[in-house]
Amino acid sequence: ELGPSDLCHVESMSHNPSGAGKINKLNAVILGDSLASEEDDLILPSAQFSQSALISSQQQYENMYKKSVDDPAGFWSEIASEFYWKEKWNPNEVCKENLDITKGQVSIEWFKGASTNICYNAVDLHVSAGNGDKVAIYWEGNEPGQDGQLTYSQLLDSVCQLASYLKEVGVRKGDAVIIYLPMLMELPIAMLACARIGAVHSVVFAGFSAESLAQRIIDCKPKIVITCNAVRRGPKVIFLKDIVDTALTESAKNNVSVDICLTYENTSAMKREETKWQDGRDVWWQDVVPNFPTKCDVEWVDAEDPLFLLYTSGSTGKPKGVLHTTGGYMVYTATTFKYAFDYKPSDIYWCTADCGWITGHSYVTYGPLLNGASVLVFEGAPNYPDAGRCWDIVDKYKVTIFYTAPTLVRSLMREGDEFVKHYSRKSLRVLGSVGEPINPSAWRWFFNVVGDSRCPISDTWWQTETGGFMILPIPGAWPQKPGSATFPFFGVQPAIVDEKGKEIEGECSGYLCIKKSWPGAFRTLFGDHERYETTYFKPFAGYYFTGDGCSRDKDGYYWLTGRVDDVINVSGHRIGTAEVESALVSHPQCAEAAVVGVEHEVKGQGIYAFVTLKEGVPYSEGLRKSLILTVRNQIGAFAAPDKIHWAPGLPKTRSGKIMRRILRKIASRQLNELGDTSTLADPGVVDQLIALADC
Ligand code: WTA
Repeated sequence: ELGPSDLCHVESMSHNPSGAGKINKLNAVILGDSLASEEDDLILPSAQFSQSALISSQQQYENMYKKSVDDPAGFWSEIASEFYWKEKWNPNEVCKENLDITKGQVSIEWFKGASTNICYNAVDLHVSAGNGDKVAIYWEGNEPGQDGQLTYSQLLDSVCQLASYLKEVGVRKGDAVIIYLPMLMELPIAMLACARIGAVHSVVFAGFSAESLAQRIIDCKPKIVITCNAVRRGPKVIFLKDIVDTALTESAKNNVSVDICLTYENTSAMKREETKWQDGRDVWWQDVVPNFPTKCDVEWVDAEDPLFLLYTSGSTGKPKGVLHTTGGYMVYTATTFKYAFDYKPSDIYWCTADCGWITGHSYVTYGPLLNGASVLVFEGAPNYPDAGRCWDIVDKYKVTIFYTAPTLVRSLMREGDEFVKHYSRKSLRVLGSVGEPINPSAWRWFFNVVGDSRCPISDTWWQTETGGFMILPIPGAWPQKPGSATFPFFGVQPAIVDEKGKEIEGECSGYLCIKKSWPGAFRTLFGDHERYETTYFKPFAGYYFTGDGCSRDKDGYYWLTGRVDDVINVSGHRIGTAEVESALVSHPQCAEAAVVGVEHEVKGQGIYAFVTLKEGVPYSEGLRKSLILTVRNQIGAFAAPDKIHWAPGLPKTRSGKIMRRILRKIASRQLNELGDTSTLADPGVVDQLIALADC
């Protein structure tokens, strides 16, 4: 039904009427050319690294992998036994799953019936094991010289005080709490405090606008919002509390009122006297939380009780509330962290992601702390005061594991090697990459210049939905190929399928699916199990569909080639084209908009928007700016279009469907690859668009 040559047909996926889970033509072909030459480029781990690595050879990996897929229940139970459980799971029911929508409701359960608490495992246990004096969090502020730290004992005290406060104001097990904080230590503290009392946190990245925040508040109806008054990021000050105020007013209009806005006074950015205040609702963190006891009983929760909600972008305008539960997520994030970075207790670990994204959840907060690691939390911008800041921080804290995104690597690469070479970086041992495929040239620069050709790069492919790493080169075990995410993690069974959903073996390209559940998988979309099934399990019956295209080379290495749905990946941030379109059309002078991703040197993908104006409205520079501002206000600055292309008409089929394939080609100026335009209702619009391309 979905012939590869019939691109238009692929876009409309007729068996998927809601439009969710729509799939575009694979873009593997585009990358295909460069893959051929990279395939044979092997970079071997040093013998010294491998000797002391947790997984020191391919053989060891293969043995463990085999065990993990032959007997997932046994494999994961053994690992889970290393955690503290108030009550154990039934050994005959470690995992119950149905991923096949044709056989009934999709459901995934791990360790159901067992009870535990992730905060207890991530904090209390290390204190009771005698590691209370070990640093849990190093904090580096926006300005060099501004810093702080918390040992595991201090972290426990802080978490308990906030948890006690939350309980006192009536937050109970299962209640939602929205956290809108920058990278202060209070952010992981707030997440852990919620987890301690069984509340469900939903962290909203503090770069989202008031509208986006309101949308999330209205969806999950939190008892309380936790924020701070302002933050400095590089040279700028961002007034977070003002954004929250606007969001709360907006939510109230939708009959969702929030009783308490707990506000941390971030004195380095703004004094409390200058902060707008609503008596009765707003409370200063520093006025109340420190007065609460540093002991707070743990709420034991079922392994399948929700831990958090994290909103992410999909193919439609409404963000999806990805729901993760407790037990499986705990076991999975801890285990993936340990092996992906070859974690040793002496490591100092730094992940540059913000806790507002999944990477910050799983690999700033939970994964590392569950391992008792020392984690660095950085408030500032990586290029402030200059492009050497990251390496300055690496030297200052003797960072051993540095985990970041290709977009940051590329932006620092552009600044030249001097900023890197000025610093020693000799503490570094393992590097990591996440968020988008890392192009081989950025990979090489990261490896050769930043890591002095000494540190393996863990290129971790995964998603908000997967909870933890899925495909990655376990350092020390594998010869690396720059740009390949390499092999699946233990228990992960990838399948590459064709347009018809048939698994293809060996060397091939296709749509990446997963055959079996893994403990860290998300369990539903909050309040919309049907959308969960339609988006992820309906496109290819029997599989979890990732939304990514993928190739497997002759050596079995996996190469991720980017999204095949209407999600674009800008600087490692997932943005739904439909979200940007709906922001644009809310502009009073905009009639229609179509957004596509386009290759961008630093961001990976840029946002390219075709905009049709209302009848009689002239296009102008002022209007261009005001359209961009509308997107900034509705979603956030990170979603601002890079290019507005004035489109008096859009290429549509006779049935009125916009042909994005043509728009993508125009956006990337591949004008001789437009293909067949004869099916368009008005083929003339294409020439018109080309003529206006640089207008
Ligand atoms: C992309 C971020 C290639 C991919 C953890 C995925 C990657 C989406 C990689 C998920 C990688 C993430 N190589 N592509 N190492 N890591 N992606 O939910 O398209 O924000 O589907 O999770 O990012 O983005 P999300």
